[in-house]
Amino acid sequence: MNLSKTKILQPIQKKLGNTNIILVGMMGAGKTTIGKALASSLGKEFIDSDHEIQDRTGVKIPVIFEIEGEAGFRKRESEVLIELVKKNNIILATGGGAVLSRENRQLLRRGGIVIYLRATVNDLYRRTRHDKNRPLLQTQNLFVRLNELYVQRDALYRETAHVIIDSGKQGVRFLVQKLINKLISIDFNNIMQNNNKNAMQTITVDFTPSSEKRSYPIHIGHGILQQVDLIVSCLSQKRVAIVSNTTIAPLYLDKLRTALEKQGIISVPIILPDGEAHKNWETLNLIFDALLKNHCERNTAILALGGGVIGDLAGFAAATYLRGVPFIQIPTTLLAQVDSSVGGKTGINHPLGKNMIGAFYQPRMVLTDSATLNTLPDRELRAGLSEIIKYGLIRDPAFFDWLEQNMHRLLARDPVTLNEAIQRSCENKAEIVAADEKENGSGPC
Ligand SMILES: NC(=O)c1ccc[n+]([C@@H]2O[C@H](COP(=O)([O-])OP(=O)(O)OC[C@H]3O[C@@H](n4cnc5c(N)ncnc54)[C@H](O)[C@@H]3O)[C@@H](O)[C@H]2O)c1
Repeated sequence: MNLSKTKILQPIQKKLGNTNIILVGMMGAGKTTIGKALASSLGKEFIDSDHEIQDRTGVKIPVIFEIEGEAGFRKRESEVLIELVKKNNIILATGGGAVLSRENRQLLRRGGIVIYLRATVNDLYRRTRHDKNRPLLQTQNLFVRLNELYVQRDALYRETAHVIIDSGKQGVRFLVQKLINKLISIDFNNIMQNNNKNAMQTITVDFTPSSEKRSYPIHIGHGILQQVDLIVSCLSQKRVAIVSNTTIAPLYLDKLRTALEKQGIISVPIILPDGEAHKNWETLNLIFDALLKNHCERNTAILALGGGVIGDLAGFAAATYLRGVPFIQIPTTLLAQVDSSVGGKTGINHPLGKNMIGAFYQPRMVLTDSATLNTLPDRELRAGLSEIIKYGLIRDPAFFDWLEQNMHRLLARDPVTLNEAIQRSCENKAEIVAADEKENGSGPC
């Protein structure tokens, strides 16, 4: 390894220390190849759990399947995994079916940083079609078999993983670098403390390449509305105004206000009429009236609790009241969670045109609780899903493939799947706005 490479890797090696990295994913996803390359880059020992089982039994895996059946093999696999995760400083590539047992999933999550190396069924087919060493793939119709296994296992890999990386058609070096970059950006302490499937994810919208250093977090999780410590850490006054509407307030306002109160934050509720027809000057003035009557000051934050209409109205009020006050988005429709709450566009409609009056005004943070989608009408859920599909179609083919596989879970409002769709959409939107904050046309896509 040359000196400059050593220098680049030192921070991540230091950050990882002896922490194990565990790779999960389908057969053919590249766990062994990527695992070996990653181990050599990070100076860790590489172990493949399937090879370990073969070494211990002295026979190939197809022979174990033949003699002991899949159940016998899975038992051996669990025993080996229990021993391997006790080690330190290893990169462990696990077999494709290792996540089938709940005990194994929990064991792996406790054993290190789990990375799901995800590949499309097409790529898996290309890589495994001549492989005779995988008993579950010895079938007349390999593509159909892989698709069945993917449908069965994808959610389990996602449930187990702390980090998901799409292997796509990229080369090994590129993928290893992508993985290292991802490892650099994540908070290990948070990961190891929050080893549960609904753990919150945080994305940063980063405008640092611009002259001013600015960035803000988007926190995404299921049931995090009452985690108001995230909000409180952004406040510079123990008083906030919460803008919501007559539909959303009865559902979520009390929960939010009570949680804030427990942290010593007083809130002024401002409840507006519901609907696009009210995204206008008259409604905006209702916000200003309430802010003035309640003597809200320069450092009184405005919280938007609602869909895109509330976000746009409250954001514009925040941009203009006293020439700008702190603003926090708490989006409650899928469309607002994947689109309108990210990027800082705020505004109202004019009789001569939609969204004609407004301002670019970035929030201090976005708190996205996917559990609020449980009460969202189906029509609104589908409107949000169309926005999500657009990201896949326009700029993220791997995401599009994933959406095709997981649409039924999204329609069923599965929390883990929703969180992931929101996260990947926000990553896409964050890239777009970071490159071209004021839509001058210079960014990608
Ligand atoms: N600022 C931007 O970048 C941006 C981007 C896209 C769209 N928009 C704007 O967003 C608006 C559309 O947003 P929208 O689709 O969220 O519509 P919306 O805000 O009107 O919400 C749709 C309906 O769902 C209700 N609702 C919201 N959350 C709910 C929940 N959790 N449970 C039950 N009901 C709930 C609302 O009260 C409303 O009746 C438009 O005005 C559009 O111009 C802005």
